[in-house]
Formats: sequence, C-alpha cells, structure tokens
Amino acid sequence: PGSVLALPRQKVFVVRGAEGVYAMSSVCTHLGCIIQHRKAQGQMEGFFCPCHGSAFTLEGKVVGGPAPRPLAWFGLNLSPRGELVVDLQRVVGPDYRFKV
Ligand code: FES
Repeated sequence: PGSVLALPRQKVFVVRGAEGVYAMSSVCTHLGCIIQHRKAQGQMEGFFCPCHGSAFTLEGKVVGGPAPRPLAWFGLNLSPRGELVVDLQRVVGPDYRFKV
C-alpha cells in the first residue's frame, strides 16, 4: 500500500491504495503535458504538472492550477497468467478499486 508505479509509455500511473489498486492517466487535463508524481516532505503527496503548475491529489482530483477536470481513471483486469492489466479502453469512476 502506498506505492505509485509510473508507466511512461502507456501514460498511466498505477497506485496501490489502502482499499485496492487503481490506474490513472498521467496526461494533464489542461493541455496534455505529462504529470509527475510528487512525494516531498512537507508537501501533500500527489501529482504535479510541470507545464503550467496544475496539481492533483493521489486520487487525481484537481487541487491547483488551470486543469479543468480530474485525471481519467482506467479499469484493471487480471490476466490468465496473474498479471495486472490496465484497460485503457475502459474509463471508470474514482470510486473504482481493484482488489488484489
Ligand atoms: Fe498541465 Fe497546463 S498542461 S497545467
């Protein structure tokens, strides 16, 4: 719990929260820059966009800057081999959690 895995080629973060795993887009909803995970002491953990300063919570809610919408969430599946697979075609709501 608490881990944040960046998948740059797929433009996704996979987060393991206390209640399960979820996957979010790493594309800023302002103008499409790639956001970065931020976990600095004394700062709220979340995501930050280097282009115009939008800030997002660990759940992808906008907490600063010009981004107009929260980050998109994607569904997860378990492959027959037991691998966790992000389904980029399936957008889900922010209450979605995949139990592992
Ligand atoms: Fe992210 Fe502008 S593209 S704040």
